Amino acid sequence: MLNLHKDHKNLVLLAFTVFVVLSIGVAILPAYQMEEYEPIPGMKDLTEQEKRGLSLYVAEGCVACHTQQVRNIEMDKTWGERPSLASDYYYSKKRMDVWRQSPSLLGSERTGPDLTDIGNRQPSEDWHLLHLYNPRLVVEASVMPQYSWMFHKTDTSYVEVDDVTLPRSITKMEGSDVIVASQDALDLVVYLKSLQQFSFEDYDPPMDFIPALPKEENVTTGKTPQKSKGAGLYQSNCAACHQVTGRGVKGAFPPLAGSLIVNDNNPEMLIKIILMGYDAREEYGVMPALGDNLTDEEIKAITDHERSSWGNNAPEVSLEMITRLRDSVTNAKIQ
Ligand code: HEC
Ligand code: HEC
Repeated sequence: MLNLHKDHKNLVLLAFTVFVVLSIGVAILPAYQMEEYEPIPGMKDLTEQEKRGLSLYVAEGCVACHTQQVRNIEMDKTWGERPSLASDYYYSKKRMDVWRQSPSLLGSERTGPDLTDIGNRQPSEDWHLLHLYNPRLVVEASVMPQYSWMFHKTDTSYVEVDDVTLPRSITKMEGSDVIVASQDALDLVVYLKSLQQFSFEDYDPPMDFIPALPKEENVTTGKTPQKSKGAGLYQSNCAACHQVTGRGVKGAFPPLAGSLIVNDNNPEMLIKIILMGYDAREEYGVMPALGDNLTDEEIKAITDHERSSWGNNAPEVSLEMITRLRDSVTNAKIQ
């Protein structure tokens, strides 16, 4: 029996063993595994300037808001042609210098977009410089911080031939002032432009994204096909105004979550609103008639979806009622 309270030798030995086992498990074995990776043939190495840009990317903490990994799921398709491979990160096998291991920039937080392929998506140096100087100049509602310390203001007459300046009209400079990009800003932008997903066609197995499960088979939602059809129809016909969350927009579109009309045991009013439109209250806008855009079956799918979502709980709507109401509405119009 180990007596760790009295026998300190055992205590130290145990701690040491745990330390060794953990080191092997979390550091040494993964490092060996990394050794097996090879660069994709034709992939370029980082140039000196790109490396300096990479250091700045690390130093400025861009990784806090940006990932560089395209996951193998449908929603990541926006960020690259294919999912990322271990070989894409081959550069990270090389140390930055004697003291520093090259950093992993995969990231785990996407406050901003993934940057795996930003060099292809946004190849303009001017755009990147303006965006770093003040993101709001090029992306109106951006929440990205500005990196204006990578630039300085000077008089046009002091600008050297090699200096890269920002367009005065956009930076709204007064008099003869102009904003000049520092070497740091230029290096960082060169690095950003180098971020291009390396494409290759004859990869085996082919690098396809795993498609999302079709809605009907999506077991996690536990919804029947009829209901998920309703969700899709709601999304394309109603959500622009009433929102996917059913909460509406204050002062414009009423919430459907908790709505008395939606939850009424008798769905007559609800169906009529969809068929004929609705403009009952001052504080909201006008809802257009949607009867001509939707079949009776579609209206049933939508109303069933609304009556069973967002905490709503009302019985299903009968198709006969929808058909009957549509007829009476059409007759009323003719008269
Ligand atoms: C606080 C979070 C945050 C930090 C830190 C941050 N960004 Fe961003 N970034 C964003 C957001 C949000 C956007 C999307 C809005 C926009 O384009 O400005 C964005 C957009 C971008 C884009 C354009 C992406 C595209 O697809 O159009 C680039 C390039 C970029 N950031 C680079 C950087 C660099 C380089 C750094 C570090 C110097 C950095 N970001 C630091 C939040 C951040
Ligand atoms: C173009 C915007 C718009 C679209 C699209 C739209 N609505 Fe509306 N909806 C409104 C507005 C505005 C009102 C409030 C009218 C008023 O009260 O004056 C409203 C009211 C309603 C109400 C009454 C809610 C209550 O409690 O007062 C229901 C139910 C409703 N909409 C269902 C739907 C359904 C179902 C769809 C899709 C088939 C849909 N709406 C599409 C704008 C829209």
